Amino acid sequence: MLLMSIRGVLILALIVVMLLIGAAIVSTNEDIVYNKGVHMKLPEPQKENGVSVEKALAERRSVREFSQESVSLQSVSQLLWATQGLTDSFKRTAPSAGGTYPLEVYVVAQNVEDLSPGVYQFIPESHELASIVEGDVSSLLESAALGQGFVGDAPLNIVISAVYERTAERYGERAERYVHMEAGHAAQNLYLQCESIGLGMVVVGAFNDEETREVLNTPEDPLYIIPIGKY
Ligand SMILES: Cc1cc2nc3c(=O)[nH]c(=O)nc-3n(C[C@H](O)[C@H](O)[C@H](O)COP(=O)(O)O)c2cc1C
Repeated sequence: MLLMSIRGVLILALIVVMLLIGAAIVSTNEDIVYNKGVHMKLPEPQKENGVSVEKALAERRSVREFSQESVSLQSVSQLLWATQGLTDSFKRTAPSAGGTYPLEVYVVAQNVEDLSPGVYQFIPESHELASIVEGDVSSLLESAALGQGFVGDAPLNIVISAVYERTAERYGERAERYVHMEAGHAAQNLYLQCESIGLGMVVVGAFNDEETREVLNTPEDPLYIIPIGKY
């Protein structure tokens, strides 16, 4: 009887330990670890540099061939700020219908200085990155992007995703068009910012939504995958 109850307690303890491990680490690949929540502060973005808006507009071009050189964390900070960073206590670099801010921005880092390969979520309010996935998932992202090779080659990808409900609560059916317009504003900001700091990018709209969600380990709807690098 005593032996039975000891065995019962041991089995229960084993189940609890397995459940705890399962909650902390959900992985389909040994090299990839999911640990949403660890935050890191980004360097302050620059608010001035020498390139005019006109020059950036005139010279902007989609780039699909990247050098193997790494990109600095300062540049990544700048790119994220341009995409969705704060410009006062809560407003951002891109306009938003009713200030509902439906966009979420992710970094898929492969070769970024001082940033381990992985997936990170940008937190505009504190200008931080939250770690979502540890490990290099760029080749999985390339597969999700229907095998477009430059997605896997780029030192980093920025993914713009959306939570439609934030805008739909106020604007109902019209929200869908508003959210897509916002993704366009954010992506054009990013094109101009890349141009002004000597990086290249291309917006990618051709990808499998479900596979992209799985790679990022997020529930949101991906709208753009954006490979970025020196060229
Ligand atoms: C909504 C949208 C989706 C796009 N999707 C892709 C894509 O999946 N793959 C790609 O290589 N380029 C994609 N592009 C980039 C266009 O091919 C590119 O902007 C176009 O050729 C014009 O070149 P430019 O950006 O250098 O002016 C997309 C552009 C837009 C606006």
